[in-house]
Amino acid sequence: MKNDNINKKLRAVPLLLALLLVFSACSAVPADNPDPVIDVPYVTVTATPDAAGEPEPTSGATVSPSTDPQATASPEPTEDQDDPTPTPAGRYTTVTVNSQTESEGQLVLVNYNHYYEHVSSADVIVRPAGAEYFLLTDRYDIRLTEEVYNQLFTLSIAFSTYTGGDKLCVTSGYRSLEDQQRIYDEYAEEYGTEYANLYVARPGTSEHHTGLAVDLSTMTADGTRIALGSHRAGEWFNIVCTDYGFVLRYPEGTYSTTHVAAEPWHFRYIGTANAHAMTAMGLLTYEAYIASIQDYSFDGGMLFVKNTPFSTYLTPGTAELNLPSDYIGTAHYDQETGTFTFDFDNPNPRGSLIWYVPASDAANTNIRLPLGISSYTVSGTNDGGFIVTAEIG
Ligand code: DAL
Ligand code: ZN
Repeated sequence: MKNDNINKKLRAVPLLLALLLVFSACSAVPADNPDPVIDVPYVTVTATPDAAGEPEPTSGATVSPSTDPQATASPEPTEDQDDPTPTPAGRYTTVTVNSQTESEGQLVLVNYNHYYEHVSSADVIVRPAGAEYFLLTDRYDIRLTEEVYNQLFTLSIAFSTYTGGDKLCVTSGYRSLEDQQRIYDEYAEEYGTEYANLYVARPGTSEHHTGLAVDLSTMTADGTRIALGSHRAGEWFNIVCTDYGFVLRYPEGTYSTTHVAAEPWHFRYIGTANAHAMTAMGLLTYEAYIASIQDYSFDGGMLFVKNTPFSTYLTPGTAELNLPSDYIGTAHYDQETGTFTFDFDNPNPRGSLIWYVPASDAANTNIRLPLGISSYTVSGTNDGGFIVTAEIG
């Protein structure tokens, strides 16, 4: 469904894309540059639009469970190595995942004490500098996972529309362990280790290794570089980016949790449902979200979040978000009847269910799914378990 959405938005890109011949590029600045501090004049490059410029949608990791409750309600472990935890019979589907994959997936926590073990350039696509009109880059190619790239591209169109022609610039995406070490060394040499420690994660602990994190700046139509944190649309962007699955990862005042100084340029992709949930819960850090989501479970109550875009609830011309009271709450699934009840008045239960499943000590972890969902994804947290995100309504 999300991919259909992307396609529709991409088809809406005016045909003038094909006519554009000249592209601007962001400043040639070090990756992960704290923009306001050492920004430098931009350089302009000329490039021919990529004929195959429109990104292909990706099928992502979404899977559709069987809708036949009788055939799929199988609480009994099917293999010796499955999670031995007994589960009651009921109206649900059971899927199993390899318990070791709790360190992988779109929702992994990566920070100073959550090392990421799966750094691989094979997980990202490469878009050359100057390949797009709405989304600029500096001297580096853009490297992000395909889903993140597609969502960012669509977000860049929204930003350009909202600002009357300003463009997003990618200053850093995927990084190898060697890239991260090089950046750390460059910062340490130029600004000292104290400064480097504030802004550059040690190799293995950077979200940039996942292809799910991006550093962004902006450029006006006349080529003036403006850091996102200083842009008049910066606060608007920090809310609307959630409609495309991104969250501001290192806001002001969160150093004690993240161990990173405020970075108004660094955004992490966690998908629209989880980005809306984290923001609607008023949580400033992904660490806090990962901790909070562990309170939600298949048996104890799942988090329910609507899928209406936040842009719908912004007071026009401001960054004031007024979410309706039924936007987020707890959903309880009755495993005998296969029906949902909500802890709040929810006349239109269309949205996402999100809950946590701890990884089993056994080789496989059983995950129960309610009936009536149209699709779901499972991601490891890199913190001992899995987050299930399912669509209903
Ligand atoms: N600037 C962030 C913390 C990184 O290096 O991943
Ligand atoms: Zn960054």
